[in-house]
Amino acid sequence: MERIPVSGPWITQKEIDYVSDAVAHAWYGNANIYHERFERAFARYVGVRFAASLPSCTSAIHLSLLALGIGRGDEVVVPDITWIASAAPITYVGATPVFADVDPKTWCLSAKSVAECITPKTKAVILVDLYGNMPDMDALRVVTSRHGIAVIEDAAEAIGSEFNQRKAGGFGDTGVFSFHGSKTLTTGEGGMLVTDREDLYRRALFLRDHGRPPGDKMFFNTEVAYKYKMSSMQAALGLAQLERIEELISRKRQIFAWYQRELADLEGWVTLNHEASGTKNTYWMITAIVDSKYGIEKAGLMERMNEKNIDCRPFFYPLSSLPAYEDLEQAQYARRRNKVSYKISPYGINLPSSLKLTEDKVKYVCESFKGILQP
Ligand SMILES: Cc1ncc(COP(=O)(O)O)c(C=O)c1O
Repeated sequence: MERIPVSGPWITQKEIDYVSDAVAHAWYGNANIYHERFERAFARYVGVRFAASLPSCTSAIHLSLLALGIGRGDEVVVPDITWIASAAPITYVGATPVFADVDPKTWCLSAKSVAECITPKTKAVILVDLYGNMPDMDALRVVTSRHGIAVIEDAAEAIGSEFNQRKAGGFGDTGVFSFHGSKTLTTGEGGMLVTDREDLYRRALFLRDHGRPPGDKMFFNTEVAYKYKMSSMQAALGLAQLERIEELISRKRQIFAWYQRELADLEGWVTLNHEASGTKNTYWMITAIVDSKYGIEKAGLMERMNEKNIDCRPFFYPLSSLPAYEDLEQAQYARRRNKVSYKISPYGINLPSSLKLTEDKVKYVCESFKGILQP
C-alpha cells in the first residue's frame, strides 16, 4: 500500500484554469480582479457583509485583535486545545492568553470554563471550531454578552460547518479562516477575515496594507502597519475551490461516514468526532480518541500506524503544556484547571482525512487501526 497522507486537497481542471488565467491576466489594472470576486463570493457564502483576503489565518487573528483595539494589559480567552496559531497573535499584540477548557463531547471551548476565566481585564474570547465542529454558540453568547466581551471566531478548520443553520465564521465580531494546504478549501497558504462590522473591516484593510486606506495617496502612510496580502494566483485558486465548496464538504462528510461504519464495532472504546443536533460538522480532520484502558497513547499509536505506511497527526497538546508557554503564569493555572483537555489529549489522533481518500483506503486504515488496538 502506498503511503496514505493525513491531509491534502482536491484540485480539478477548474482550479488549474483559474490560476492559469490569473497568471496570464491578473496584472496591471486587473491585478485585483480575483481578490474582489473571491472576497465577494466568500462573504456571501458565510452570510456576512465583508471579507478581506489575507496571507494566512494567523494574520487574520492578528488584524482582528488590532482592529478591536486589544493590547498590553488585556486578557484574551482561548481554548487550551487548538493549534498555537489561535493564541500566538494574542502575544503579538502584547496581551495575555488565558487558556479555557474544552467540552468533552465537541472538544470545542466550554462556556462554563470561559465564564470561570473572565476577569475585569478580559477583552475578547477567541473561540475555535475545532476539526470542523462547532462549540455551543448559544451558551457562549450568553457569557460574552453578559460581560460585553468581543468575540473572534476561529473557523480556520470549519468552512461550511453550521450551528442552527448559520455558517461557521459568522458568529463573532470577526471570523477568520485558513486556506493552508491541509484545509478543506485551500489556496496553498492563505486566510480570510470576515465581519459584519464596517469599522473593523476598514481598519483591517488599512492595517493589511502598511497603514494606508485603499485608494489613498500613493506611498503616504499614516501609521506603521503590516504587509498582509494574498496574491492574485491564490485568490483565483480560492475562488475556484469556493465554487466547488459543496462538493468538497460532501466528500469530507462521506469520508467520515466510511470511518464511522468501519469503526462501529469499537463504539464505547474509541470516540470519533461528535455532531450535536442542530450542528453540521464538516469533519476537517477525522479524529479518534481511544480509551485509556488500551494503554497506548497518541505517540505510540502514530508510530504503529506509521509502520503500516499511514500518516496520522497527534490530537493537539494543551497549549498550556507547551514549552512555548512554560513561563506564563496563566499556563500554570490552566494546567490545574483544564481537566478535560488534559484527559483527552494524550489519547487522540487525527486519522487520514485527505479529500482524495478512497473507501478502500479508509478500510485499510481502519483495519490497521483495529489491529493495533486488538493485538
Ligand atoms: C484552529 C486554527 N487556527 C488558526 C490556524 C492558522 O492558520 P494559518 O496557517 O493559515 O495561519 C490554523 C491552521 O492550521 C488552525 O487550525
